[in-house]
Amino acid sequence: MTAFTLAHLSDPHVAPLPTPQWRELMGQRALGYLNWTRNRHLIHQRAVLDTLVEDLQAQHPDHIAVTGDLVNLALAAEFPRARRWIESVGKPDDVTLVPGNHDAYVRGAEMLFAETFGDYMHGDAAPVAGQFPFVRRRGPLALIGVSSSVPTAPFMATGWLGQHQLAALEQMLDQLSREHLFRVLLIHHPLRSKHWQKRLTDSEALQVLLKRHGVELILHGHDHIHSTMWFDGPQRRIPAVGVPSASSIAHGHKPAAAYNLFAIERDGEIWRCVQTVRGFGSENYNKVEELKRIQLIPAR
Ligand SMILES: [Fe+2]
Repeated sequence: MTAFTLAHLSDPHVAPLPTPQWRELMGQRALGYLNWTRNRHLIHQRAVLDTLVEDLQAQHPDHIAVTGDLVNLALAAEFPRARRWIESVGKPDDVTLVPGNHDAYVRGAEMLFAETFGDYMHGDAAPVAGQFPFVRRRGPLALIGVSSSVPTAPFMATGWLGQHQLAALEQMLDQLSREHLFRVLLIHHPLRSKHWQKRLTDSEALQVLLKRHGVELILHGHDHIHSTMWFDGPQRRIPAVGVPSASSIAHGHKPAAAYNLFAIERDGEIWRCVQTVRGFGSENYNKVEELKRIQLIPAR
């Protein structure tokens, strides 16, 4: 049996940023715009993103997961541009998306995001755009999408799932645990954060659910770094893997853009998953290379 390959990229922050309307520059956005014009436009580059996606497509993954932050300030003009970008990545059936905090940068953006990208983030059973959690079955995988994306006050980038979503997720995980599927949870925010203002506020409640019902893998973005954290599941620990921003050049402590490939296969009663990290090596933004290969599951 050949392995099923799931690719994961995150935080493309599709550039360039369109010029905002003056009335769009209020509250959280005014600070965000200042931040973009001062430094973020130098960090998130369209050419970097395009080179990375081209390499990803050349690997012919069976499915692609994108964990949010397609836009920057959620300006109306950013949405059609980001839509064209995701269409260039793959068809809605082949790409599963969850929103990030930048996609809900201001009140009302959440709805616009759901309308624009609904076909990339709905379940197989009831294709209702903007309804979370949702589940999509692809090969041996069950891809479970949740939204931690909520508008926040200036200087904050926290995420929140809420009781309603957590209750529905519990029910979904309980049902899925009766099938022998490789369950992948897609969420923008990491479950543990060093930065209080960037954390998932109800992470503890999510971790309780995961300990009770389990998933095989968690994929997230938000921190723009390579990271692997482990969480308790019912039988074994669950890896949670984060990736750098898909459009970023290396800066400060943040690495250059990269993505992950997960080759997943069933071996009798157990799952095997090999993670391959591909990205830009030595400040050469013309070429993507393999940076690392790790046997993620079973953990060594
Ligand atoms: Fe981001």
